Amino acid sequence: MKHITIAIDGFSSTGKSTVAKQLARHLGYVYVDSGAMYRAVTFYAMQEGYITKHHFNKDGLIANLKNITISFKFNESLGFAEVYLNGENIENQIRTLEVSSFVSKVAEVSEVRQKLVEQQQVFGKHGGVIMDGRDIGTVVFPNADLKLFMTASAETRAKRRFSELIERGETVTYDAVLKNVEERDYIDTNREDSPLVKATDAIEIDNSNMTLQEQFNKILELVNSIN
Ligand code: DC
Repeated sequence: MKHITIAIDGFSSTGKSTVAKQLARHLGYVYVDSGAMYRAVTFYAMQEGYITKHHFNKDGLIANLKNITISFKFNESLGFAEVYLNGENIENQIRTLEVSSFVSKVAEVSEVRQKLVEQQQVFGKHGGVIMDGRDIGTVVFPNADLKLFMTASAETRAKRRFSELIERGETVTYDAVLKNVEERDYIDTNREDSPLVKATDAIEIDNSNMTLQEQFNKILELVNSIN
């Protein structure tokens, strides 16, 4: 069986990473969460004061991109790779609603995208990779062997994200999460550089009414059909 490249794109909280992790474990592939890389840059920008509630010093961030090193390290007990910023594990810090509320703005910056896309392409050089994001099938791996485009209603997605955040102990309201999901959808699909769009050769999967198992089986069937 050859080691293929699988690109999974879609709106936020469509369960891309859940199914990608499941699939990577099953196939013995590497899973790369490209959104975690945009979140890591956002976290850096917040820490360094380039981004606050009222101001985004884009030029300051761009000038300091060279000081950002992002890496992934596999965590045996979790079963997936955690993200590191300049050697520090920031896997938990990047999942907050605060980071989520700034990340789309950071992801609009072409210089940020260029840096991260280059690194993502290196990760995928040898195949056997599943990467999820917004532009994986269109920009990062336009020649991916399998491209999936995941969708679900904004309400379904907000409910999922709300439960995740509550489970993690954050104090948030469902309305705030729904607003964040809708705002990110808007920015991600309307930005100038690499907007979220379904690649013409991507297979759309609406999982609003699918169980995780049903979704996994369907995707595995697609993988097996090209191998
Ligand atoms: O997948 P996620 O929700 O963790 O992604 C966070 C943000 O990063 C998302 O709102 C858009 C941006 N992103 C992107 O622009 N391109 C990618 N390949 C992945 C994420």
